[in-house]
Amino acid sequence: MIEMEINVLVIGSGAREHAICKSIRKSSIKNKIFCFASNYNPGIAKICHDISIGNINDKKNVLEYALKNNIEIAIIGPENPLEVGITDLLDLNNILVVGPKKNLAQLETSKIFTRNLLIKYNINGCPKYKAFNKINGLEEYLKELGNEFVVKYDGLAGGKGVKVSGEHLKSHDETLEYCKNIINKNGEFIIEEKLYGEEFSLMSFSDGKKLKHMPIVQDHKRAYEGDLGPNTGGMGSYSCENHTLPFLSESDVIEAKKINNQILIALKNEFNDFYKGILYGGFMLTKNGIKVIEYNARFGDPEVMNVLQILKSDFLEICLAICNQNLDDVEVEFENLATVCKYAVPNGYPDNPVKGQKIEISQLKNKKNLYFGSLDQINDELIEAGSRTVAYVGVGKSLSEAEKLAEKSISSIQGPLFHRKDIGTQELILKKVNKIKSLKL
Ligand code: AMP
Ligand code: GLY
Repeated sequence: MIEMEINVLVIGSGAREHAICKSIRKSSIKNKIFCFASNYNPGIAKICHDISIGNINDKKNVLEYALKNNIEIAIIGPENPLEVGITDLLDLNNILVVGPKKNLAQLETSKIFTRNLLIKYNINGCPKYKAFNKINGLEEYLKELGNEFVVKYDGLAGGKGVKVSGEHLKSHDETLEYCKNIINKNGEFIIEEKLYGEEFSLMSFSDGKKLKHMPIVQDHKRAYEGDLGPNTGGMGSYSCENHTLPFLSESDVIEAKKINNQILIALKNEFNDFYKGILYGGFMLTKNGIKVIEYNARFGDPEVMNVLQILKSDFLEICLAICNQNLDDVEVEFENLATVCKYAVPNGYPDNPVKGQKIEISQLKNKKNLYFGSLDQINDELIEAGSRTVAYVGVGKSLSEAEKLAEKSISSIQGPLFHRKDIGTQELILKKVNKIKSLKL
């Protein structure tokens, strides 16, 4: 009997896509991995049958590459290809895709769309908000919210589209100026109430009819220890052996899962189409319960590394089930282990990162849980490319065991890099638990 081999296309080339490639490689389904990448990630290159560097947002180029290589299934890593409708085009050409079509991906690409969806379908967790595309009523709404507001640009902005009062915007005048700038460029935005609490991510596999949830993960957006400094793509993340977080109650978890499920139904009703891919709910636990901060239409980075590292089931089988809408029939199980993921980033990141400098990983003995991010390989040397460079995932029976492993490993990487030592430590976790306790008093 001839065993079938399937050709899998991964779009994107950061640490998230390295994690996706590693999981595909572990599959019991015989496969060949192809990667359409924006840079030459040496980790991915080592695993892939072929890696092609190009513009991952250029639909025609991606399609051409997919057809040339007889791709059966494509897995889309980042959000921009979803926004330009790569899924729609691949789907028209009978290629299976893990990643929603353009209209469904508005869940991530338009904050106004998602806020309106929550209201229209009566889903809990929507903060008080108003959408604007002109100046009318803006000053009045700011007055109503006082000093507790957030401005969100309505579109993808690489994590830079959210301005928080008191931090990024110091006065109403400054805010009006900022908003006028958006309006002058024909942009839209949301003003919403500022929330206080702890954020967490609940990602779910979705075949459009059914969700299967992953362990809950907490990311750390701030660059410096103690959750201080500028926002980043995420400096590191952790998950616990029981798949929830120390500051969440059982009913909080039920509520977050319910919101993801309701979103799926709302999307089906809205578009009469199925959302096939990863549904990522970004939540905040506040004194008034769970609030929705945002939705993403893809795996989180770094969160994906926490969950795929402990996925017991066959990832490629899950991907095929997402596309063939039989997620209910496949096993989606995770090990009861804790994980801590820490990123090493270039000195000066995120505002003025060093670039082009060499890093050295030879001191790290076990490279199994190492993920390459923004890196180039030039003459066998690893060179920093300016964004999050490498990540390491510590896995253990307890959070403290996982944290120690992650810390030791990421510290052994040499070069002009830094990382957050506090992620996953008992001290920081306790702070988060106490913060929630004091909010609820
Ligand atoms: P987003 O792009 O919507 O995920 O927002 C980026 C970051 O801005 C979030 O991770 C939060 O830390 C912060 N943020 C977003 N919305 C709010 C809000 N309503 N209140 C307080 N912080 C927020
Ligand atoms: N870790 C946050 C994100 O992927 O958007």
